[in-house]
Amino acid sequence: MTVNAQKNANAIPGVQLSDGFVIPQLGIGTYQLPNDEAEAIVAAGLELGYRHIDTASLYKNEEGVGKAVAASGLDRSDVWVTTKLWHTDHGDPLGGLRASLDRLQLDYVDLFLIHWPTPKLGTAWQAWEGLIEARELGLTRSIGVSNFEIEHLERIIGDTGATPSVNQIELHPHHQHRELVEYCKQRNIVIESWSPLAQGRKQLFADPAVADAAKAHGKSPAQIVLRWHLEKGFVVFPKTATASRLGENLDIFDFELTAAEIEAIDALEGLGESSISPYDMNG
Ligand SMILES: NC(=O)c1ccc[n+]([C@@H]2O[C@H](COP(=O)([O-])OP(=O)(O)OC[C@H]3O[C@@H](n4cnc5c(N)ncnc54)[C@H](OP(=O)(O)O)[C@@H]3O)[C@@H](O)[C@H]2O)c1
Repeated sequence: MTVNAQKNANAIPGVQLSDGFVIPQLGIGTYQLPNDEAEAIVAAGLELGYRHIDTASLYKNEEGVGKAVAASGLDRSDVWVTTKLWHTDHGDPLGGLRASLDRLQLDYVDLFLIHWPTPKLGTAWQAWEGLIEARELGLTRSIGVSNFEIEHLERIIGDTGATPSVNQIELHPHHQHRELVEYCKQRNIVIESWSPLAQGRKQLFADPAVADAAKAHGKSPAQIVLRWHLEKGFVVFPKTATASRLGENLDIFDFELTAAEIEAIDALEGLGESSISPYDMNG
């Protein structure tokens, strides 16, 4: 490992989870990257100093992610790997996780999430009990959920008494979920922002609230948006298929937004489209 990679890795803050583990606040998203691209991007990212990868069985790239982690030569304990349970495996969460581990060629993941609550199916609540068992068996260190609204969180916490360590939700300046974020904050549930860059939409990057801050700090609009997430305490893993952007997305630890800049970005709530509504997908 190069001195620079170690320096970059050290610059990424950790976020304390309620279960005692510490998750790197910045990682690499891998949605829409096929195996070979995921392998190349994750390998390049680990070489640069990234230490956190977000994948899912749905993404069909766990093999590529696992190969890059193995080839990095890093200690397993130095890389955070998250994967997710798709709703077709809600009936057998342990089987779903073991299949993911097999593809990743890992003995455990750091974080295992229920990918969607799929309330019309009604199968996610029982699946949560399987995640608790997976943690007890040491197949995952931490457990959490994704795309859960307050009522879904109430349901699983009420049923089991076990609070998820994280809730991974679509979150960016156009779509801030303030009530849900506040609910999670009060219960020590860390928020992970998916689509932190609003999937790279120009409408967000060109907005004066973002563009003016970029000019003032000598940073790119994407770096400003990622910095906004960090200062809110959210965990982020922007996705890029462009290796040169990995360095750009990592270069966000040498400046801070002013209170006025944060306020201006906060005011973008509701201006853009949501990437996807949870209720559009699998009920
Ligand atoms: N739990 C869930 O249901 C869920 C849903 C969606 C996503 N996720 C996770 O969250 C991760 C991130 O979300 P996402 O992939 O939807 O969207 P995103 O990270 O907000 O945006 C990705 C887009 O932004 C572009 N981009 C990346 N860095 C950039 C930069 N520095 N400047 C300009 N454009 C840049 C990328 O382009 P290029 O690739 O061309 O560079 C890509 O088009 C996913 O990969 C996945 O791991 C989870």
